[in-house]
Amino acid sequence: MPAAPHSTPAAGSQPLYLIPGATGGPASAAAAEAPPAAGPRTVAEVLEQARIEPVLQELDRDLVGLAPVKQRIRDMAALLVIDRLRRAQDLSAAAPSLHMSFTGNPGTGKTTVAMRMAEILHRLGYVRKGHLVAVTRDDLVGQYIGHTAPKTREVLKKAMGGVLFIDEAYYLYRPENERDYGQEAIEILLQVMENQRDDLVVILAGYKDRMERFFRSNPGMSSRIAHHLDFPDYSPSELLSIAGKLLAEQDYRFGPAAEAAFARYLERRIVQPHFANARSVRNALERARLRQASRLFADAERAYTREELSTVAAEDILASRVFGTEPPSDLAPTEETP
Ligand SMILES: Nc1ncnc2c1ncn2[C@@H]1O[C@H](COP(=O)(O)OP(=O)(O)O)[C@@H](O)[C@H]1O
Ligand SMILES: [Mg+2]
Repeated sequence: MPAAPHSTPAAGSQPLYLIPGATGGPASAAAAEAPPAAGPRTVAEVLEQARIEPVLQELDRDLVGLAPVKQRIRDMAALLVIDRLRRAQDLSAAAPSLHMSFTGNPGTGKTTVAMRMAEILHRLGYVRKGHLVAVTRDDLVGQYIGHTAPKTREVLKKAMGGVLFIDEAYYLYRPENERDYGQEAIEILLQVMENQRDDLVVILAGYKDRMERFFRSNPGMSSRIAHHLDFPDYSPSELLSIAGKLLAEQDYRFGPAAEAAFARYLERRIVQPHFANARSVRNALERARLRQASRLFADAERAYTREELSTVAAEDILASRVFGTEPPSDLAPTEETP
């Protein structure tokens, strides 16, 4: 394995494939093999070559809120762009450490941002393929002796050239269980994170407090993670903007009074069990769409306008159980788990 990252960013012709949990990425474009005529000298040249600015702008535009996360990503992009300029002038070429932790409650955008991150790293030439492989403990750790190493290595093989996203990574470490196979997975990960860091970026994700505890018990892992990004909960108004965006993405919108109804829905939902930020918004809209469809379905003779077909009405929101008389715990079984 060469010590330097792949020196040429993806050429302009290459499409992007970013599939959560994908088992592989696109083959590197042949163009990526061509050596650059002369190294870049300016930030603008690197940005232009790597086509990085559109990704950053898209991140700003598509994702509501997350100001501190977006700033950290810009800072990391700056670090990598300058690293490329340094390389072009033969300054110290140790591969920068890019492993990260993303901490925050469920539905705060960690997986979504990880996919964008994979894209940025790919465009800047730090990973060959730029795909994201999302796993949890069960994908890495076996049930029986001898099963863990092959399982972990298989996942690492799939993730090579991209980003390995380990959700709820702290479950790998179970101190209460003396002979837990998770430790074996951790040791393999540590090795690869060190020796193959020019070809694989690992992102550990999960709740902040559990992750901190995990790092305190696993100094080896802690020392390999250079970047810690914290994802705050969304404010009610951010959740409302997210709702608007999610609807628009699918050619829906709130009708008169529906947005106000959804704001009232959120007020109630936020304090209930298993509230999961943007994911709960997505699920609530999914249910509102079902109700809208039933409402329209009921009139079999009517020719609906585009407007009617794309409008979620206040009544589609207000029919939610959140407004009903059942105790809040009734929601739990049908709701997302964290
Ligand atoms: N800031 C945001 N703006 C718009 N949509 C978002 C935002 N954050 C999350 N989402 C949406 O919410 C859902 C859950 O996000 P996800 O990234 O899976 O959260 P996490 O990995 O933290 O649990 C996704 O469908 C995503 O598109
Ligand atoms: Mg997630």
